[in-house]
Amino acid sequence: MVTAPTWSPGSWRQRPAQHQPDWPLPDEAEAVRAQLSKMPPLVFAGEARQLRDVLGRVASGQAFLLQAGDCAESFDDFSAISIREKLKIMLQMAAVMTYGSMLPVVKVGRIAGQFVKPRSSATELVDGVELPTFRGHMVHGDAPTPEARAFDPARMLQGYNHSAATLNLLRAFTKGGFADLTRVHSWNQEFVASSPEGRRYDVIAGEIERALRFMAACGIDLAAERQLHEVDVWTSHEGLLLDYEESLTRRDSLTGDWYDCSAHMLWIGERTRDVAGAHVEFFSGVHNPIGVKLGPTATAADVAHLCEALNPGRIPGRLTLISRMGAERVRELLPPLLAAGKEAEQPIAWVCDPMHGNLIRTASGTKTRRLDDILSEIRGFFEACGEAGVWPGGVHLEFTGEHVTECLGGSQAVVEDDLDVNYSTLCDPRLNARQSLDLAFRVAELMRVPGEA
Ligand code: PEP
Ligand code: CO
Repeated sequence: MVTAPTWSPGSWRQRPAQHQPDWPLPDEAEAVRAQLSKMPPLVFAGEARQLRDVLGRVASGQAFLLQAGDCAESFDDFSAISIREKLKIMLQMAAVMTYGSMLPVVKVGRIAGQFVKPRSSATELVDGVELPTFRGHMVHGDAPTPEARAFDPARMLQGYNHSAATLNLLRAFTKGGFADLTRVHSWNQEFVASSPEGRRYDVIAGEIERALRFMAACGIDLAAERQLHEVDVWTSHEGLLLDYEESLTRRDSLTGDWYDCSAHMLWIGERTRDVAGAHVEFFSGVHNPIGVKLGPTATAADVAHLCEALNPGRIPGRLTLISRMGAERVRELLPPLLAAGKEAEQPIAWVCDPMHGNLIRTASGTKTRRLDDILSEIRGFFEACGEAGVWPGGVHLEFTGEHVTECLGGSQAVVEDDLDVNYSTLCDPRLNARQSLDLAFRVAELMRVPGEA
């Protein structure tokens, strides 16, 4: 990949930048940027390259992407337990999907940096008072007061520290024994294990253990196989707050290329994917794998232009396009975009976000999503890809390992009256652990090659 000669980490400032906070004291923001730019990188360029190569296999139909995590991470709900529970459900889902499809599942968290949100409206009414809408803990507090909602650039430093601590624990969990395949049973939480999907999981876990014992009996030294004891869980977030992303951009000493070292993978949101805008300019010059969300207004020309801007060298794994059309319209809206990707001869990893096109409000105004709509959009995505001869490369989800009641449905259905019981998201409604596992089984069924047992 060649970076344009006009590009620099700050060249996005010449372009219109949407959804950026209006810092009250620009000097203070400048001081924070200067401080952040001296901090150690959170990830290494070499790691981002490894993920790019793995995503290249997603693009060519040899692997499947599971990208999932919170809609917005919180500075407050920040503990070893919440990180461990998210990892557990991710590992469980990946085990189900790998076992069901016999394909590698690439695990990417919306984690260790998912602290900034774009919002459709700039303000909201809370008890009759008009306040700036909540845009994530990296820029202000969520409490419904004018003081909490004032933008504070020092929160970028806090966001960096939270990301570093999260990533540190994630590395320990994934490399230090917790993710060992011999512990496949222990990822099933008690409240999930007693449910139909939890029992179904235990059956698979038992089969995986038998397979491991079989390999050991054949004389394979399981202890020597790193892949059985460690997993790679990569980090990602929406690259929305460009002050932060620019400050964490470093030149790789090995290749001389620029990398945004705030996460392995970054994505550009539906609201900031304008090809002439600041976000596309910034991400055109860093060499990380990049995702772009595509909603119902995306056109074939947008796909062609985004491909040209972000992956002119057609590098496999560089570009992931994440469709989020809504269950009702995916069959109609996705095919022309898939065709445009083929026309451009681009090695795109096509992924389905079945969450953001399926938001509804209950009669009392609570934001929610129906698991049935989410599953229906995934089915529509698989069908559209199948007809176009394009590999359906993965899913992008909002979930939590906890027992929340934010999305409707599931085998022990969450109904409208339950939504109040444990509705704790800072932003969009997330799948709970049982709904996520249920979804993993459905996706595994869709992934199974027709004709295979
Ligand atoms: C998100 O992923 O949380 C999000 C805001 O998505 P989108 O840009 O697709 O609306
Ligand atoms: Co969201």
